[in-house]
Amino acid sequence: MRKQLVEPKNNIRILIVDDEPGIIDSLSIMLKRSGYYYEGITNPLEAVEKVKTGSFDLMILDYLMAPIHGDEVVKRIREFNSELYILLLTGHKDLAPPLETIRALDIQGYCEKSDRFNQLQLLVESGIKSITMMRTIKKFRDGLNRILESVPKIYQLQPIGNILEDILAELLPMVSSENAFILVDNIIDSDESRKSIFRGIGKYKAEIYDFMSMLDSQLLERIGKAKITKNIIITQTEIILPLINELNDSIGVIYVESNNKSETDIAEGYKLLEIYASQAASSISNAFLHSLVNIKNEELSKTYELLRIRYLDTIEALRQVVDAKDEYTCGHSDRVSYYCVKIGEAFNLSEQELETLRVAGLFHDVGKMSIADDILFKSDKLSIREYNEIKKHPTKGARILSVISMFKNVVPIVKCHHERIDGKGYPDGLIGEQIPFPAKIVAVADAFDAMMSDRHYRSKLDLNAAINQLMVGSGTQFDSHVVSKFVNMLGDYKKMEKEIAYTYE
Ligand SMILES: [Fe+2]
Repeated sequence: MRKQLVEPKNNIRILIVDDEPGIIDSLSIMLKRSGYYYEGITNPLEAVEKVKTGSFDLMILDYLMAPIHGDEVVKRIREFNSELYILLLTGHKDLAPPLETIRALDIQGYCEKSDRFNQLQLLVESGIKSITMMRTIKKFRDGLNRILESVPKIYQLQPIGNILEDILAELLPMVSSENAFILVDNIIDSDESRKSIFRGIGKYKAEIYDFMSMLDSQLLERIGKAKITKNIIITQTEIILPLINELNDSIGVIYVESNNKSETDIAEGYKLLEIYASQAASSISNAFLHSLVNIKNEELSKTYELLRIRYLDTIEALRQVVDAKDEYTCGHSDRVSYYCVKIGEAFNLSEQELETLRVAGLFHDVGKMSIADDILFKSDKLSIREYNEIKKHPTKGARILSVISMFKNVVPIVKCHHERIDGKGYPDGLIGEQIPFPAKIVAVADAFDAMMSDRHYRSKLDLNAAINQLMVGSGTQFDSHVVSKFVNMLGDYKKMEKEIAYTYE
């Protein structure tokens, strides 16, 4: 057996199979001159075994051999290997196997033996080109698969440092390198300052201070050039990939030490790297946006908290004004507010709706502030003119509250709290569904508390009489569903009284 044990050119391994040692010698001279790795073998049966164990890329095979011919050798090899590139050598053209056999066995080429092997040399060269191309395609395909597999991982929302580490970890197997780093600029930190962040792997796995000392001025210059030109930089020892986001801004670089690979490998490798870098840049940008959203969310939370405090202050201030105006009904608004929320809860209203009801209950009579005291506190029977004046308080209340934007949901409730289902209420004489549901709740709560309290013009009713009045008005003055729910709840009236005393003392 003849062998040329040198570093194989293009990593191509060739097997020559011919039962004439002289032919192997002649071919060896040609292959040696071209710098290829080869082995020669004279026994066709051994050749089949050799292919099983030797990971050859190309086989030059004699046709007429004993104990089996070349076509039988190919047939046996094709049972376990479909990728081996096979060139068949024939004697006289009349002795060549039929074309159908050559096609059926996937033999890539054949030529007649001659002394000079010029034709064979051309076939070998073109075979090697095909093999190299197939390898490139396969590597490219595998690399793309790896990128596609890694994309979900790098897109998961996680801290930016972790994303950078994942990007490097997924990258290195693609470029057969162990040393790399990723540098990203202008990250907006939680305190809104801008900073750079890096992650290294292999010899670049270091703290930021040590890391910076590893970069000489020329390397820094090349990194700067890659970022500015937005072009990949490839030298014999390194690849610098700019990270370009969707807005076509340079957000950093990936630096990879390369291993002096052949031109083909670098060309194919950097195409993969470019695809990967664009995926990486997108995921980094996403992480930035996510952290920006977090910062804005925190700002919003702070603003919201301030707004909430202002809202509560405003309610308290207004409440004191209302209480000061009418000492006699002091506590009425608090109780109405309490009943409103209780009824709202029984109807499974949302937290926001309950808060609106609470405020509506507190300020349902705020419009009475602008009614003259001599009418409001008159103990004698009111004249029609005076009563009409009193009836303006829902509209006046709605106007007062509409000045404050945070009460915009409360305004229609206050305006409609004296409307009746049968249309005989005021100020607009709305009917049934025209009346906002929360206003129907306030109407029942307001009427009940009024009946349960002493007024200038009458004494309070007892609980059963008040419940009876609600039942009488159900479906005409009041919404029947609200009355029904509220009356059920009034089975616990004692408990409610205690809660009111506890809450508003
Ligand atoms: Fe009222």
